[in-house]
Amino acid sequence: MKLLSLAIQDFRNIGAAALAPSPRATILVGENGQGKTNLLEAVYFLATLKPLRAGRLAELVRFGTPRAVVAGDFEAAGGPRRIAVEVDAGGRRASVDGKPQDRLDGYFEGLAAVCFSPDDLSLVKQGPEGRRRFLDRAAFNRWPAVLAEAREYLRALRARNAALRTASPEVEASFRAPLVRAGARLLLRRRELLRELAPRVAAAFAEISGPGAPAVGISYRGAGGLDLEEGGEAELEARLGEILDRRLARDLERGYTSAGPHMDDLVLGLDERGARLYASQGQQRAVVLALKVAEIENLRHALGRPPLLLLDDVSSELDPQKNRYLLEYLATLPAQAFLTATDRRLLEPAAGPEATFYKVEGGRFGPLDS
Ligand SMILES: Nc1ncnc2c1ncn2[C@@H]1O[C@H](COP(=O)(O)OP(=O)(O)O)[C@@H](O)[C@H]1O
Ligand SMILES: [Mg+2]
Repeated sequence: MKLLSLAIQDFRNIGAAALAPSPRATILVGENGQGKTNLLEAVYFLATLKPLRAGRLAELVRFGTPRAVVAGDFEAAGGPRRIAVEVDAGGRRASVDGKPQDRLDGYFEGLAAVCFSPDDLSLVKQGPEGRRRFLDRAAFNRWPAVLAEAREYLRALRARNAALRTASPEVEASFRAPLVRAGARLLLRRRELLRELAPRVAAAFAEISGPGAPAVGISYRGAGGLDLEEGGEAELEARLGEILDRRLARDLERGYTSAGPHMDDLVLGLDERGARLYASQGQQRAVVLALKVAEIENLRHALGRPPLLLLDDVSSELDPQKNRYLLEYLATLPAQAFLTATDRRLLEPAAGPEATFYKVEGGRFGPLDS
C-alpha cells in the first residue's frame, strides 16, 4: 500500500497542492507555522478519515473557503485506486474511484497509518485520554471494523447519558444493554491488541534503553475495578453490567456513565512501578517510542507490510541517541514515510537514495535547495 500521488485543496493553510511522494521517505522542511503538520494531517485524514489533532472537522477547512478536499492514488492489491475525502459544513464524505463510500470497510481495505508527533512524547505523564486515543487508533489500524464498533459504543453512551439525565431508573434500564454489548466488544479488541503489543513493547524498550534497563510492562485498568484478564464476550458484558448497576445511583445523580471503555486507562510501568510517577523523562520518552515501534511492528506482522508512517518534528524533540535509534529503525523498514523538520540535517539519516524533499512555505510545497 503506497500513496502514489497526493492532491490537496483548501485544507488548513494549504490552498492547492499536488505532491509526488517518494515510495520511501518524503521529507518536508520549513520554518514553524508554514504548513508541515497540516500536510501530515491531510495525509493522515486521507488514510484514516480521522483528524490528527483533536477538534472539530470544520477546523480542517481553509479559512474563508467552503470545503476541503484531500485525494490520492493508492497502490492497492488490484491496481491503483483513487481515494478522496471532502469536508464541508455538512460533514465528511469519502469516495473510492469516484464512488461515495457509506460503509467504510471498502475504503479502509489495506490502509493503516501511524503518526508520531511531539505531543505523543507526553503520553505517559498526561491524563488517560491520550492513552485511550492511542489504544483506539491502534485497534482501528489493526481492525478497521473497530471504527464502526467505537461509533456504536459512543452512540449507546450518549443515549444512556441522556437517559440518566431523565433521572428515571426504568428509562435507564433499556439503554444499558446496548451500551454493555458495544462496550464488551471494544474491551475484547483492546485486550487482544494489548496481548499482541506487550511483548513487542518490551523488546523495543530493551533495545532503545540498552543493557541494565528496567523491564517495561503495559496493562489495562478498567474503571470501577473491571477485570479484563479472563472471560469471553458474554462474561465481559455481565461484568460491565454489574459495575454499571453498582454505580447507578451515582450515575443518575451526575447524569453521566462513570465506567466503561471511555473511562479506562492503559497502565505503563517500569519494573512494576508506575512510569507516570517513577520514570525519568528520558525513560518516559523511551516508553512512548517503544509503544510506537511496537504498533508499527505489529501491523507489519499482521498486514504483511508496514503502515504508512508520519513523523512530525520528532527529531528535534528526542535526544540524539533515541533519534538515532528511531531513524535507523525506520531505515530498515520498507515503509513509505512522511517526515517533517525545521532543519533537513536532522533527518538526513532517514533520507536514503529514494528520498524526496520539499520546502514548505506559507502552505506551498516547492523544491528544497540543498
Ligand atoms: N483552517 C485553517 N485555515 C487556514 N489556515 C489555517 C487553518 N488551520 C490552521 N491554519 C494555519 O496553519 C498554520 C500552521 O501550520 P502548521 O502545519 O501547524 O505549521 P508547521 O509548519 O509549524 O507544522 C498557522 O499559520 C495556522 O494559522
Ligand atoms: Mg508542526
